[in-house]
Amino acid sequence: MTNPISSDSLKQLIQDRRTCYQYADQNDYPIKDELLYECLEAARWAPNHKLTQPWRFWIIGQQAKADLAHIYAENRALKKADKSTDLYQELYTKAVEKFLAIPKVILVGQALSNDPVTLKEDYAACACAIQNFQLMAWSLKLGVQWSTGPILKDERTMKKLNIHSEKIELIGALYIGYQKPDCQKSYAKRDSLASFLTELA
Ligand SMILES: Cc1cc2nc3c(=O)[nH]c(=O)nc-3n(C[C@H](O)[C@H](O)[C@H](O)COP(=O)(O)O)c2cc1C
Repeated sequence: MTNPISSDSLKQLIQDRRTCYQYADQNDYPIKDELLYECLEAARWAPNHKLTQPWRFWIIGQQAKADLAHIYAENRALKKADKSTDLYQELYTKAVEKFLAIPKVILVGQALSNDPVTLKEDYAACACAIQNFQLMAWSLKLGVQWSTGPILKDERTMKKLNIHSEKIELIGALYIGYQKPDCQKSYAKRDSLASFLTELA
């Protein structure tokens, strides 16, 4: 059996990966589609019980991104202000800018099984797929934020993707861009293994 990656490299990749909330400017550092496909290829090799392959992906293009920006901004602004106020307009405009500045957006959905056990296992499989995606992205110097924000639950998003909530649940918006040097180092910590581990004789 070949050993394509050293355990040290793998360990470093897993430990170095961080959620990124800010990205290098997309005009200066455009992301080639091939890189997204590399990450999606990694995603689809995730473990999944009974080979249900429950993941679905949408790469969001410019028009769809503009529509999602509106949904994102409206949800965000409504959390803090009434629609008729100046504050709403201010928050809305800022949020649209923020969303449009995200270089690439991919939505991830889970095809919903009628069987409750499979449903749970399929969510786990989708989570594995997203982690595969994130690790491949990191190895390509891309940073990802896995968001579970309100756009995923918004009926307008479902309509835009032409999906129905009884068949597919959107479980992640992946915001992607080239990493900035200061990418979320504050989250680079975990409790010690001993705090999670019990060894039985
Ligand atoms: C299921 C799941 C949902 C998440 N949803 C969000 C989210 O909605 N917004 C967000 O900023 N980060 C979200 N994250 C990212 C986590 O906040 C992040 O992984 C955590 O802060 C640890 O940081 P790290 O990824 O850099 O290790 C999510 C992560 C997971 C696994």
